[in-house]
Amino acid sequence: MSDGRASVVFIGPMGSGKTSIARRVAKRLGVPFADTDAMIVAEHGPIADYFAEHGEAAFRHAERNAVADALTRGGIVALGGGAVVTDETREALAHHHVVLLTVSERTIRSRIRGAKRPLLNAADPIAEWSRIAAERRPIYEALADVTFDTSNGPLRLIVDSAGEWAADRLGITIDRRDTA
Ligand code: S3P
Repeated sequence: MSDGRASVVFIGPMGSGKTSIARRVAKRLGVPFADTDAMIVAEHGPIADYFAEHGEAAFRHAERNAVADALTRGGIVALGGGAVVTDETREALAHHHVVLLTVSERTIRSRIRGAKRPLLNAADPIAEWSRIAAERRPIYEALADVTFDTSNGPLRLIVDSAGEWAADRLGITIDRRDTA
């Protein structure tokens, strides 16, 4: 279901830069920004703790609600990497503009440090990241209206490209001299 106000929604694997790029795009366009992981943390506490206590199925349920809420707000939305495994979320995305961010395995090595992501709490986090990313790739690609790879180059250039694309979709004129 859509309330008629389409958002630009960033999807993609863990560590692809969804939150940081989407936040900068929203700032540049002067539109609301919602990050579903942050919404879950605000409501339930740290994601790793929530996973440990309640398991992945409960997390996906909380995430589904956060996504539904975020998609009513308009503007720019960043989803958690696994949000697209939920049927309702995939159906809801049909009413929005979807940006897929990709990243190479080589680049991800420097991005996924620390224990923030429970699904990567494995003996070999990089191998696990690759396995999950490959498993979800067909879903991401089927949902995406546009794709930007974030593996190389300054973040600013990706924000420029994604920002222009998002501005077009939302009917916003951006001052190209602005920097986020
Ligand atoms: C997950 C991705 C995480 C977070 C949770 C599960 C996933 O978000 O929602 O740890 O299943 O890919 P990021 O993609 O922002 O890391």
